[in-house]
Amino acid sequence: MDVETYSKTISDFIAGGYITSAITLGNDLGLFEELKRLDKPVTSQQLADACKLKERYVREWLGCMVSTRIVLLDESDNYFIPDALKPGLNATDFAFIYPVMGTLTENVKKCWRADGPDGFGYEDMPRCLVDLTEGKTPDPDKVIGQLLMSITRPKESLITILDLGCGGGNITRALSRHFPDAQIYGVDYNDTAIDRAVTVAKQQGIRNETFIQANVTSLPRDWTHKFDWVILYDVLHDLPDPVNSMKEVYRVLKDDGVASIVDPGIHSNHKDNIGDSNVAGVGYAISSLICLPCSLSTKGAVGNGIGWGKEDKEAFLSNSGWIVIDKRDVESAFALNFTCVKANA
Ligand SMILES: C[S@@+](CC[C@H](N)C(=O)[O-])C[C@H]1O[C@@H](n2cnc3c(N)ncnc32)[C@H](O)[C@@H]1O
Repeated sequence: MDVETYSKTISDFIAGGYITSAITLGNDLGLFEELKRLDKPVTSQQLADACKLKERYVREWLGCMVSTRIVLLDESDNYFIPDALKPGLNATDFAFIYPVMGTLTENVKKCWRADGPDGFGYEDMPRCLVDLTEGKTPDPDKVIGQLLMSITRPKESLITILDLGCGGGNITRALSRHFPDAQIYGVDYNDTAIDRAVTVAKQQGIRNETFIQANVTSLPRDWTHKFDWVILYDVLHDLPDPVNSMKEVYRVLKDDGVASIVDPGIHSNHKDNIGDSNVAGVGYAISSLICLPCSLSTKGAVGNGIGWGKEDKEAFLSNSGWIVIDKRDVESAFALNFTCVKANA
């Protein structure tokens, strides 16, 4: 690569970061939603009025969107997104966590310093992270369907289901919708997450969900062999103590139960990720600010983070008493599902 290409590559990534800040505004202020709904081009004033926003700000935003070709101009300089392209706006979900990244930087820099703290857990991250994380999985019902595809036992036999590291309960609620007669449990150690999960379940009148605040390493003693299905969705790489955590998963799972362990599908070796900026590049960036500090947050922590990688993770599972009976992406390469059963059952 020559120096001009090298320099342009760096500038393009930085430009992407700046433009993402405008994309998050478009998501949060309903601008994309309105442009999606519209069946004809509009002026900046019409768009602003429809979203109850000030025209001057909206016009500045449109300047960014037009220059990047996310929004198009017609011959009268009105703004629109062609119908055929509107489904592509789903890609803006990818910006779900961007607003919080900058706010974490100062704390993270302290941890990186040789004499600084080791890390920090989710309870020390901004409360809004719980809500933002839900944007990561905009269609949790589809995810449950995909997870079930690799479970061979009948769906009706899954009566007790545990969502470990449930966050605000996005996946847990989808489980309740799929399994209205099952007992669904959600566990997270972060009280903000559990508060949200409980509140939303109440608001939605969900009756078959129980949320418990606990660490994965110390689940209730009376849960031995309680569950038919345990799910860890985007959690394993965050855990400071994956060995004892997975021992707990083993304990609470019935002998004929199944565990779905979904984690980013990044390669373990850096060289295998070369050129993959959309998954590995973004994953490592998020991990440097969130997942790695979390997985280093307790004494003796292993510090896996997203960089743990799928090859080493599979080896870890196989060496800790599990048989991986299936592996496939659900949603995207950020969500590689290992379907596991007990090796010695
Ligand atoms: C990336 S979020 C995923 C949340 C949810 N599963 C989802 O996909 O929307 C990771 C979650 O794991 C939880 N977590 C991390 N370490 C934990 C631990 N040791 N015990 C319990 N929960 C933990 C965090 O609080 C956070 O809610």
